[in-house]
Amino acid sequence: MGQITFLCVYLVLSLAQGEQINRFRRKIPDNILFGAGTSAYQIEGAWNIDGRTESVWDHMSHKKPCQIHNCDNGDIAADSYNNYERDVQMMKELGLDFYRFSISWSRVLPTNSPDDINEAGVAYYNKLINEMLKYNITPMVTIHHLDVPLQLDALGGWVNPNMVDWFVSYARVVYELFGDRVKTWFTINEPREYCTQQSSANKSGINEYLCARHMLLGHAKAYYVYQNEFKAKYGGKVGIVLNSVWYEPESEKDAEAAEVKLQFELGQYAHPIFSKSGDWPPVIKDRIAAKSAAQGFSESRLPEFTPEEVELIRGSSDFFGLNHYTTDLVYRNNSVNGLYPSPSYQDDVNVITYQPETWEKTIAPWHKVVPWGFYKLLNKIREDYGNPPLYVTENGCPTGPGLFDTQRIFFYRKYLNAMLDSIDEGSDVRVYTAWSLMDNFEWIMGYQDKFGLYEVDFNSPTRTRTPRASVFYYKKVIKTRKV
Ligand code: NOJ
Repeated sequence: MGQITFLCVYLVLSLAQGEQINRFRRKIPDNILFGAGTSAYQIEGAWNIDGRTESVWDHMSHKKPCQIHNCDNGDIAADSYNNYERDVQMMKELGLDFYRFSISWSRVLPTNSPDDINEAGVAYYNKLINEMLKYNITPMVTIHHLDVPLQLDALGGWVNPNMVDWFVSYARVVYELFGDRVKTWFTINEPREYCTQQSSANKSGINEYLCARHMLLGHAKAYYVYQNEFKAKYGGKVGIVLNSVWYEPESEKDAEAAEVKLQFELGQYAHPIFSKSGDWPPVIKDRIAAKSAAQGFSESRLPEFTPEEVELIRGSSDFFGLNHYTTDLVYRNNSVNGLYPSPSYQDDVNVITYQPETWEKTIAPWHKVVPWGFYKLLNKIREDYGNPPLYVTENGCPTGPGLFDTQRIFFYRKYLNAMLDSIDEGSDVRVYTAWSLMDNFEWIMGYQDKFGLYEVDFNSPTRTRTPRASVFYYKKVIKTRKV
């Protein structure tokens, strides 16, 4: 049976059964908003159009193209720069409450000077926002989503302390330009992913922590710029987006190893902002100090925050933004000795992670479907950080091509149920974002891993979008408010 026929059969069956099944489906609390997400470099294209300058990803994909799967790049991507009306139509078709997208720094500030605003770039975001508002779809905007302007990357990116002020000036510009219509701001997306994976600075067991320190300071200062200069006028909310896998101990004896891993990956960024005491998590401070001393450093490789900085960062987020995709098992035994270079971030954590073959696979080697891990992570955030308002800013399942994406439908059903289990126990989840509205440039994996509710035909000049079966599922969840 062809895919379209299959899709039709699925639709007819689900419509026919709809009413009966509805009675048994689980109710979603009324206060949860549903949306879908994307980011600028992953969908916009128009990389050198209307005055935009290069980001690290343009540069890397042009200079070392084959580091990326199939030597792909984001030059055209889903061409959302020219397809924004179709994108909004898709949001409307889905019945989304909101859409999370990001602004390209080098499109708005091509020379990185806050006095040199690129009006053509600004016009694109105005058109997109205004089109969404026509249909009552709320814009939720990420200010910085992994696409560091090339000129700033050449100066060290977030390893350079000046990046803090450069970012804060950029944030002020976007609050000023769009703050009358945008009431939810995400300062920085996935700082840990950038600092330990994507940053082009050498991974030395030093730069990762400098980077974390500067991203936390940049976030907090941008938070206070909004509080002091815009909040009274616009009344919006500002927060950070952190990402974490759930780390499950392989056995009881590995509980400490799993906790250390979670503290490095999530706590390093969450503890300074969301814990009562602020500052780095104690376990990270202790481990890096001890390792640094043993390695002959005169002081810890983990830079300290001054007491004023601890206070600045503590509490600097109106909500806990969380991107979550999967779960790993964690253990530590003698085989870890000498496994990682010393000094290094991996050596500081000093654990081994893996996913058992028996867990449900997806197309991506790093990703397995483990809904109970989402439940445990939400509970842990509730317990460790005093139950902050939680925005699930990304959750999704990679698949191969094709419209009949049953795995994605089941993924969402299972993960939404896991989220409801955690809400039943008291977690204050307010926002759920499916990643992604449409297929896009999946960083190092190029266009191979598809995350889209909508399929994008990357061979068609107009980048045609077609709904996958999961569109009909997600739409129904949103409409009936039942999983
Ligand atoms: C998190 C990132 O924010 C997003 O850019 C990426 O596409 C998804 N994870 C899927 O890997």
